[in-house]
Amino acid sequence: MRFSTVSLFPEIIEASLNYSMAKRAIERGLFEVKHFQIRDHAVNAYGKVDDALYGGGTGMLLMPEPVYQTVRQAGHSFAQDNPEAGKNVEIKEKVIYLSPRGRQLTQELAAQLLDYNHLILISGHYEGIDERVLEEVVAEEISIGDYVLSGGELASAVLIDVVMRMIPGVLPDNEAWQKESHASGFLEENQYTRPAVWRERKVPEVLLSGHAARIEKARELSALTNTMARRPDLLTASVMSAEDWFTLLKTLDIQEECK
Ligand SMILES: C[S@@+](CC[C@H](N)C(=O)[O-])C[C@H]1O[C@@H](n2cnc3c(N)ncnc32)[C@H](O)[C@@H]1O
Repeated sequence: MRFSTVSLFPEIIEASLNYSMAKRAIERGLFEVKHFQIRDHAVNAYGKVDDALYGGGTGMLLMPEPVYQTVRQAGHSFAQDNPEAGKNVEIKEKVIYLSPRGRQLTQELAAQLLDYNHLILISGHYEGIDERVLEEVVAEEISIGDYVLSGGELASAVLIDVVMRMIPGVLPDNEAWQKESHASGFLEENQYTRPAVWRERKVPEVLLSGHAARIEKARELSALTNTMARRPDLLTASVMSAEDWFTLLKTLDIQEECK
């Protein structure tokens, strides 16, 4: 899988990939990231890529042609580096514009993006990007939250991080992400490590019991109570099974069991 970034400040995205899990996964060839600089396609020798808004208003907007040429360059580069793509291997390419107007990035949406082998991520800057180029390259708009960043680079870095963790082989246990918050519609359970007693606070006894079934049940209860306490909206948004509802209702009575 390749992520191609289209931006004015690729260094911001690059920095996030130089550490820990992402760095190791790239070194192992589990995914790749290529950066494409919009300014390389400036409309004049002074590197001009933006202009004032038609109709007035403050700020500058990225012009359509430099963005268009950079997206095309990213597409050509992928096809060139993967000569088998389009013949033996289907090119599944998606162009994404990171934008506060977009559909919210969730774990579920990130998992859907795993179906593609090439994601082209466009970062806007200043006031954003001329609408026509977004139509031309058929960009899906994705937002990382209801707030406005000064550029799409941090949002691209977030998207890459969320998606790459789900690529098989990136996490030590392939299913690990499926047990984390948001994968199943719930938040994660409370977790503990050594020492068993820290500043008079004890790890719940059930976790030290060695009884696998009881531990599993206690974890489920902890995940449900965390979700109910912190994000009750997730419970109404998810289609909970009758069994989960039963467990949830019972939790109200048997929280002692988790201690
Ligand atoms: C200052 S913002 C432009 C905001 C735009 N004028 C608006 O009101 O929707 C510059 C760039 O940051 C990126 N950006 C800002 N907030 C974002 C968010 N919540 N999610 C994803 N990208 C965002 C977009 O790429 C955007 O083009």
